[in-house]
Amino acid sequence: MYILAFETSCDDTSVAVMQDDVCVALSTRTQLEHDVTGGVVPEVAARSHANAIFPCIDDALAEADITINQIDLIACTDRPGLAPSLLTGLVVADTLALSTGKPILKIDHIESHIFANFLERTESDIIFPAVVLTVSGGHTELYLWKSIFDLEMIGQTHDDAAGECFDKVAKMMGLGFPGWKKIADLAARYTGSFQWIFPLVLLEKDSLDFSFSGLKSAVKRYIDVQIATPEWLTEEKMMQIAFEFEQIVTDILSKKIQRAVEHKWAHMMILAGGVSANSTLKNKIQKISETIQIPFLSPKRPIYSMDNAAMVGIRAYYQYQKNI
Ligand code: KG4
Ligand code: ZN
Repeated sequence: MYILAFETSCDDTSVAVMQDDVCVALSTRTQLEHDVTGGVVPEVAARSHANAIFPCIDDALAEADITINQIDLIACTDRPGLAPSLLTGLVVADTLALSTGKPILKIDHIESHIFANFLERTESDIIFPAVVLTVSGGHTELYLWKSIFDLEMIGQTHDDAAGECFDKVAKMMGLGFPGWKKIADLAARYTGSFQWIFPLVLLEKDSLDFSFSGLKSAVKRYIDVQIATPEWLTEEKMMQIAFEFEQIVTDILSKKIQRAVEHKWAHMMILAGGVSANSTLKNKIQKISETIQIPFLSPKRPIYSMDNAAMVGIRAYYQYQKNI
């Protein structure tokens, strides 16, 4: 079967064609216009989705070498996300479903990030129960994935999401958009050793929740002190701040996934969401995996970590197959 899938929950317009569980075409346009405002403006994002979505459909169908009439199922993200962005995808998907008479499935964004781990894998690659850490610009949550459609939230952030924290720290440092990339690039260039400048916030001993606002404030205070003495804020210092910050955030995330897997006696650790593309984070969890002998999976490609329509398509495929 062919599935035409849409993802427009934030600032990426993405359309995929799936042939069963295989992504045969993926067309994604990332909105660069938010560079000017240093953050996503919902109205600007919606207008940009409206302009990009039809070219993305054309590209995806051309790449898959099929016509719209060959599509058997339509899938679209319907929650959570920026309402004006979501609406653009929903209106287009609903209209297509209505005019072609094809069925449509509305998909949860977080569930689709989690299902991105099925792309280029088979169902038996996931060992249940698994602990899933979903980390994106809007979410930092831990789930116990008990069986394919049974997810229980076991931890969440009390304030900022980890990805949002990357983006806000980049903004404080005047690094531009997308902030996470500038931070990761600066951190990768730093050759000094880790000094533990910022706090490792793990909350209570058994807590599976997160809090990033204290860390964000500590980084702000540190940067403000450097700015007060401009000659201190050298290129080397910027690299050190990015490195120290990335190390602490990835330490918090990796320690929490380990804590969760041990508390819940889970058989696997899984990463999902935009921050799962971060190689420092993946390397740390991989090391934990080898130490505690619990397998670790993250999306096969960086494009499957970020917002993309293939993850919506594969979530719809499994749902449709199992008749849920
Ligand atoms: O899942 P996603 O594409 O969109 C949301 O649902 O929010 O996540 C995007 C966010 C970016 O804003 C950034 O904060 C974070 O994920 N991100 C990263 C990396 N790639 C994306 N953070 C750190 N390192 C990365 N390599
Ligand atoms: Zn996302």
